[in-house]
Amino acid sequence: MTLHTVSELLSNNNKLPEVEIKGWVRTFRANRFIALNDGSSLNNIQCVVDFEQTDESVLKRITTGAAVHIKGELVESQGKGQKVEIIVKSIAILGDSDPETYPIQPKKHSFEFLRENAHLRTRTNTFSAVMRLRSALSFAIHKYFNDNGFFYMHAPIVTGSDAEGAGEMFRVSNLDAKNPPLTKEGKVDFSKDFFGKETNLTVSGQLEAETYAMSLGKVYTFGPTFRAENSNTSRHLAEFWMIEPEVAFMDLAGNMDLAEDFLKYVLKYVLTNNREDLDFLESRLLDEEKTKPQAERSEMSLIEKLDFVIDNNFKRVSYTEAIDILRNSTPNKKKKFKYIINEWGADLQSEHERFLVEKHFKCPVILFDYPANIKAFYMRLNEDGKTVRAMDILFPGIGEMVGGSQREERLEVLKEKMAALDIDEKELWWYLDLRKYGTAVHSGFGLGFERLVMFATGMTNIRDVIPFPRTPQNAEF
Ligand code: 4AD
Ligand code: MG
Repeated sequence: MTLHTVSELLSNNNKLPEVEIKGWVRTFRANRFIALNDGSSLNNIQCVVDFEQTDESVLKRITTGAAVHIKGELVESQGKGQKVEIIVKSIAILGDSDPETYPIQPKKHSFEFLRENAHLRTRTNTFSAVMRLRSALSFAIHKYFNDNGFFYMHAPIVTGSDAEGAGEMFRVSNLDAKNPPLTKEGKVDFSKDFFGKETNLTVSGQLEAETYAMSLGKVYTFGPTFRAENSNTSRHLAEFWMIEPEVAFMDLAGNMDLAEDFLKYVLKYVLTNNREDLDFLESRLLDEEKTKPQAERSEMSLIEKLDFVIDNNFKRVSYTEAIDILRNSTPNKKKKFKYIINEWGADLQSEHERFLVEKHFKCPVILFDYPANIKAFYMRLNEDGKTVRAMDILFPGIGEMVGGSQREERLEVLKEKMAALDIDEKELWWYLDLRKYGTAVHSGFGLGFERLVMFATGMTNIRDVIPFPRTPQNAEF
């Protein structure tokens, strides 16, 4: 007999004389009813034990958290709350649990507590639902690109270049930290390091992806990226996963179309395929909202939000228009913003992004044509000489979901920008080669995967949508 899963059995409408299942006990009630979960479904299957036929010593070991192996018969349930249940014919304890110390008790736990027990938190309904959705979203992402003729490219994780020019990188080195080799000038001599140069964990696979776009045409990366920014917020991780498509012969308008189509597709995918988990997370969120003051409650439920994004066009707004809106906004005039917007050129803070998305437009917004000096060196300079073909996609409740641009394809312009920012041409000789040999218009963007998972699940802390979050002062597990 092959092993069944809870998910299979719950969707089975026929009686099955012989079923076999392994899972973890969620609860054991009245010495008779086991709620069993094996991770395949949000729901538990009820297994009915005949305590008169079962050894006292075995009954005692059926406790919350224990792993068990059950053989029995699948029947229509006698009780309320479930369609089918298993009449247990034999039960074996595979692994005992200690009900006194097992952290995941059948009651409500705070997310803070569960973060400290991240190795066991996927045994709760909320975290198992979130992580099944995370898995489904990854699959949908690969499916979207595969169905649309993109090739999956693996960008290196150890890199010698700083793609974003932000300098917030983690060094990769095997030099003796206490006693590193020094140059004549007294600096650390990285030529003696493992790679013969200074290397870091990548902040983005974009520059390498560009080389592949300029040969394979349409590519995307999907891998871990690292940022040593010391921002302990609910939207930043030091290690996060990024999806970066890059397409030859595509301009910024095409980039916006791609990003919008892609985001709608993956959200629609989970709405269609993961409805049970989404419904659960929606009701969880509704309960949480009830504890908040009326004014802070969301106007839409989780599913309504997802539907809204899928059904409506993202609003496309230039940076210049956005600055006008912000300058004339009530919170700016009443000095409610922490950073007051006075003039064109100001970098937008998350309070401004949230105002635009949540209060003004009330839908996802694509902001484009930003001032050149607040964006990365590789973005294409516009004819006005002061803005670049950049785009950020802002989402309600999240802020920046996507950052992308049309890339500077003109060798001379790119060299000038690098010189102005003190970026050594020798470091990026291969990147410049792309502009020497068969250069062409090309564009791409980066989507922060965890921010997408946050939006899709309604979770409000990014630490709760990645298995083992890496944040300042925290790399447990
Ligand atoms: O806007 P960013 O920095 O863009 C890039 O890295 C480009 N190279 C992308 C490209 O054009 N190929 O980062 C892209 C996205 C952000 O919009 C955000 O969603 C996410 O990555 N992100 C983070 N997510 C979690 N934690 C952090 N510390 C993040 N930093 C950026
Ligand atoms: Mg950005």
